[in-house]
Amino acid sequence: MSDLINVALPKGRLGDSVYELFAAAGYRCPEIENPGRRLTFENPEADVRYFWVKPSDVAIYVEKGAADIGVAGKDILLEYQPDVYELLDVGLGRCKMAVAAPKEFTDEREKTLKVATKFANVAKKYYSQLGRDIEIIKLNGSIELAPILGLSDVIVDIVETGATLRQNNLEVKSTLFEVSARLIANKASYRFKREKINEIKKQISAIKGE
Ligand code: PRP
Repeated sequence: MSDLINVALPKGRLGDSVYELFAAAGYRCPEIENPGRRLTFENPEADVRYFWVKPSDVAIYVEKGAADIGVAGKDILLEYQPDVYELLDVGLGRCKMAVAAPKEFTDEREKTLKVATKFANVAKKYYSQLGRDIEIIKLNGSIELAPILGLSDVIVDIVETGATLRQNNLEVKSTLFEVSARLIANKASYRFKREKINEIKKQISAIKGE
């Protein structure tokens, strides 16, 4: 096993700020700042190798050990329940998981509620706790379109600024939980590379939220 710590970073908005956090914590990687077509980026001096993956795939890379650690949203962790250690709330990517619907929507409890979402497990659990009969419509993006076009009654989705809801005449009807990005670790890696992983956790913890 390589001595480098393999880090799965979520591609996109969250990933850029996550990398900046690692860099500020002492794990800068000049290669990643000029990526070209490369997929992995190493800085042997800092003992790290990074790679970008789809945010919803970070937990899989870490669970399977392809990455030792990674950063994934609490939304993804609750949806996929990966068998990993959650080490730290890194305080980035703050948003909430919410039920949203057109302003005029009122729930008629005798009808099956049509729920469009990327987070089928989260939505099922929420409504089963309420004893509410639902039909899940699993989508992969642009969830807000579903109630506008009559595909669903409500959506269960991430709300960050609320701009997408406002601009589409939707509003939050209830909040399920707060979301933020978490540092996660593969269980075997955490046994064998505990010292290095704990050092990364310590350095990030010292600067997060600054
Ligand atoms: C997410 C989410 C909402 C939007 C919320 O979508 O699904 O659509 O961000 O952000 P806001 O409250 O700041 O408007 P994302 O950008 O990940 O794209 P998606 O359509 O592929 O889900």
